[in-house]
Amino acid sequence: MSNAEAAGVPHGTSSPSRGVSGSGLSLHQLGQYHVTNGIGRLTEGIMTKGQGSYVEYDDGKRYLDFTSGIGVTSLGHCHPKVSQAAAEQCLTLVHAQCSIAFHKPYLQLVERLLLMMPHPSLNSFFFWNSGSEAVEAAIKLARVATGRQNIICMQGAYHGRTFGASAVTRSKTIYSEGTFPLMPGVFSIPYPYWHQHGLPPSTPPSELASKSLYQLDLVLAQQTTPRDTAAIIVEPLLGEGGYVPAPPEFLQGLRDVCDKHGIMLIVDEVQSGFARTGKYFMIEHSGVRPDIMVIAKGLANGFPLSGVISRKELTDKLKPGTLGGTYAGNAVSCAAAVAVADAFKQENILTNVQERSRELFAALESLRSDPDVAPYILDVRGRGLMVAIEFTSPNPPGGKLDPFIKPDSPKMMAQRVVKTCVKEGLLILTTSAYEVVRFIPPLNISPEELKKGMDIFTEAVKAVVKEGRSENVVV
Ligand SMILES: Cc1ncc(COP(=O)(O)O)c(C=O)c1O
Repeated sequence: MSNAEAAGVPHGTSSPSRGVSGSGLSLHQLGQYHVTNGIGRLTEGIMTKGQGSYVEYDDGKRYLDFTSGIGVTSLGHCHPKVSQAAAEQCLTLVHAQCSIAFHKPYLQLVERLLLMMPHPSLNSFFFWNSGSEAVEAAIKLARVATGRQNIICMQGAYHGRTFGASAVTRSKTIYSEGTFPLMPGVFSIPYPYWHQHGLPPSTPPSELASKSLYQLDLVLAQQTTPRDTAAIIVEPLLGEGGYVPAPPEFLQGLRDVCDKHGIMLIVDEVQSGFARTGKYFMIEHSGVRPDIMVIAKGLANGFPLSGVISRKELTDKLKPGTLGGTYAGNAVSCAAAVAVADAFKQENILTNVQERSRELFAALESLRSDPDVAPYILDVRGRGLMVAIEFTSPNPPGGKLDPFIKPDSPKMMAQRVVKTCVKEGLLILTTSAYEVVRFIPPLNISPEELKKGMDIFTEAVKAVVKEGRSENVVV
């Protein structure tokens, strides 16, 4: 069923494009018909307001938001200091195009970020709008800096939907289906996620790391020689591929290979960055130095802004004009990001992430200790407030050969749990090709809000397990 049919717009209706009154459609139906079907949506209502950890819809329904707009509104919706900073910038200077002049919020943001970088060598900044664009710029920089072309990415990775970013995305086929050819010169190795190696969830991280690093050696020996390889791109905590933290020894192994061969290590912190994992950047947990780091999402708490950060010695190889973009490093977005950086410190966000993380894991472990539910839980994992639970499946992506097939599992368990949560007033998301539900609540969520969300989630899982293997599951 298309989005339009779902909204009750009759199939075959000729374009009702003469406005709301002319079309006779409600605003909601107008959206269903005239907004591209290429966007999938968790809910079909119209979101009208956001405050802290809650959002409201036009029918008056209020939801606790454990999606944070996919890891963006980390300080909650409409954080007063962030919105205030953006509003003031709106009345001062909205668009100071980056190829025409510097603007103050841009430079103030650089000043703030220099103090937050996981390594002091990361001292040269370029701001863009989206994570995908920043990934494109990182690839461009790696190619120019090395004079080489090929990129190695991870099986399971997600880096965005533009053509270069899609080429290094390997989490689901939907992101590129029907759109090939993508950027050439891309090779992949399995992420150190037990599924990618067909190993059980109990496999020690060190074993997963060495299996993935072995595959890297093979790729460099059999598919793309180091002298043709510009970069290895990695999410230090796999996001859309299933919320899997990379073992530190894997990231260290990538660093060693890059050092040995003069390959750039691109670390994508778009989803895992900005305190999400209990440190400013996930890569800090391993102590590994990126050559290029990509950031976005929580950076500006909802205002479009991304960044590519590298060493000045590398970015000095870019001729002026190589990077740019009409809206790149927009002044309002940068002003919001400066306020975000200040609020992180003033409001002790890192401490809240660590404390709430313990409560979140405890709630999931308690669910896992329920004997009715336990057989259907494969894994609980993550760092900070970037956490996932993985359920069993009767038809996993690996089909009958998948070692984790469990024929008596409820079908599409993750989606059914999410749907039940939404009915009960909790917005929450699945992730990956597997049966995974992810938790990305605001980083300043209160203990009471976290408990409320986890109670709804727990009841939803129990309800879906009880409902079992219904043949007519519509999600
Ligand atoms: C790790 C990672 N990289 C890149 C992107 C792409 O960012 P955007 O959607 O802003 O283009 C995402 C988005 O989810 C992401 O999670």
